[in-house]
Amino acid sequence: MPKVLDGTAIAAAIKQEVAEEVRALAARGIRPGLAAVLVGHVPASEIYVRSKVQTCADLGLYSDLITPPDTVTTEEMLDLVAALNARDDIDGILIQLPLPKQVDTKALLDAVLPAKDVDGFHPVNAGRLQAGRPALAPCTPAGVIEILKRSHIPISGAHAVVVGRSDIVGKPAAMLLLHENATVTICHSKTRDLGEVTRQADILVAAIGRPGFIAPEMVKPGATVIDVGINRITTREEFDRFFAGNEKREAAFLKRGSTLVGDVHPKAFELSGAYTPVPGGVGPLTIAMLMASTVRAAKMRRGL
Ligand code: GUN
Repeated sequence: MPKVLDGTAIAAAIKQEVAEEVRALAARGIRPGLAAVLVGHVPASEIYVRSKVQTCADLGLYSDLITPPDTVTTEEMLDLVAALNARDDIDGILIQLPLPKQVDTKALLDAVLPAKDVDGFHPVNAGRLQAGRPALAPCTPAGVIEILKRSHIPISGAHAVVVGRSDIVGKPAAMLLLHENATVTICHSKTRDLGEVTRQADILVAAIGRPGFIAPEMVKPGATVIDVGINRITTREEFDRFFAGNEKREAAFLKRGSTLVGDVHPKAFELSGAYTPVPGGVGPLTIAMLMASTVRAAKMRRGL
């Protein structure tokens, strides 16, 4: 039976460590602060950001939720970011993506002060990460590394195959794995004989954003499978494709009208040595790492 890597438990341990650090900083009169910018009313974004703000409160961080309307312009957003860059009570700036299409996302991410870029999306932080300098790293890939380390899965010398090359997950995950001395292969939608490559993985990281894309025959038996995907499925056809015969899932699907599936087909997990479930795998780490990143930014900005 494969081992289930419990992201919720690992995230809880990290949050407890962050809360202790926050208490230690409070004794020195420092309270790390996060500004969360949520534009418009994208339901998934609203859920994520609410959860980020709540976690700040739980751990003792200050947070400021800013909610511009979905008609906001790039200029207005740039002014907002400039104001947050200048605020001394704000250590981290999080701009929840995606943004409405009239907003120039890249211009905006480039405007965040690298020292307050707790998402690690600024090109300066991406460059620092790849150059092996201290950097604020993107939260989801940082969470992947924490899951592997805290589950005692050897990374050094392992062949890690990352499927997906996004700036937010795939590329930084590959870089972090390389820094941990893995042999890293990055695959993507144009990779020839993808299954041939993924079957070589000791550690397989799926971050493609396509429900159940990694089929059982693409996984080497005993591999560690990290599923970064979070895809909501709503049709009976999709449900049966992934979860036929799973009574617990079916009850939840019928009650809610939807359920979540990762980028890995559930049948592919059965062959693995260890895997992160969806939900309850990588997802919870993203917020825990954002909190850790905000505390780190608060300390770095004060030269601690
Ligand atoms: N949208 C989806 N994931 C993320 C994330 O990690 N950070 C931000 N800012 N937006 C997101």
